[in-house]
Amino acid sequence: MANLEDVSNEALMTEMMRRMRCASKPEKRVILIGPPGCGKGTQSPILKESHCLCHLATGDMLRAAVAAQSPLGVIAKQAMDKGELVSDDLVVGIIEEALHRPSCNKGFILDGFPRTVVQAQKLDEMLAKRGEKLDKVLNFKIADSILEERIAGRWIHPASGRSYHTKFAPPKTPGIDDITGEKLIQRKDDNVAVLKSRLESFHKQTSPVISYYERKGLVANLHAEKKPDVVSKEIEKALDFSKSPVNAKQKSLWFS
Ligand code: AP5
Repeated sequence: MANLEDVSNEALMTEMMRRMRCASKPEKRVILIGPPGCGKGTQSPILKESHCLCHLATGDMLRAAVAAQSPLGVIAKQAMDKGELVSDDLVVGIIEEALHRPSCNKGFILDGFPRTVVQAQKLDEMLAKRGEKLDKVLNFKIADSILEERIAGRWIHPASGRSYHTKFAPPKTPGIDDITGEKLIQRKDDNVAVLKSRLESFHKQTSPVISYYERKGLVANLHAEKKPDVVSKEIEKALDFSKSPVNAKQKSLWFS
């Protein structure tokens, strides 16, 4: 058991309150899918907080492995720097391990996974073994032309994954994280040349994943070009199962 002696009363109480609030929440298993810069990383923390889910972002996990210079990180870095996908085996292994975390007991948000049909099939196998099923695939639909400005202006706080934008979501002080006061950084792959190959990977390898889930009746299409709060509302609607009876043959859901 973890040693809690040095954890502050305030932190313990906050966690107790969070667990009490989360106890009544229904389980949910959600995938966020869309091109680089579409807003997956912006919406995930909001969704995690409101639905008490764990947030598994393969990009963040891989960047942590690269920063730690672990054997996995050394392999992943080569593909990531070029904007290519890392191998299916590598990311499937990471997700399989992460799903055992206690924080994933109420369900999960998968952000950036699966990105190939092979990864989607492996995820189906993993969930079948656990006796679980996916509830929804949120498809962040957006034109490529909007993404360059979003990616070029993005700054992140590496420790928390918090994302800012010089124009659309500026921090209170330029270059500084609002919460911790620590420095913000720009990602190495956030430049126009690498974005081009990331988009190519998305259209070639990840678009078929959307069709895969459309055939299963799981996809809700979002207007990801709209403002973040509008996108958040569309997500809440898509995840409100109390009003829409589950229908496996249901066509893709569009918001008007
Ligand atoms: P990953 O880290 O997953 O990157 P990505 O999918 O390219 O997505 P991003 O993080 O760039 O974009 P986002 O949608 O989160 O956008 P954000 O919300 O920040 O992957 C990186 C690499 O890892 C891959 O290239 C690959 O090599 C590897 N990898 C990862 N997973 C893999 C897998 N499963 N298999 C193989 N390889 C894998 O928004 C962007 C900016 O826009 C922000 O500045 C934000 O403030 C702003 N913004 C957000 N929403 C809005 C809005 N509605 N209006 C205006 N501005 C907005």
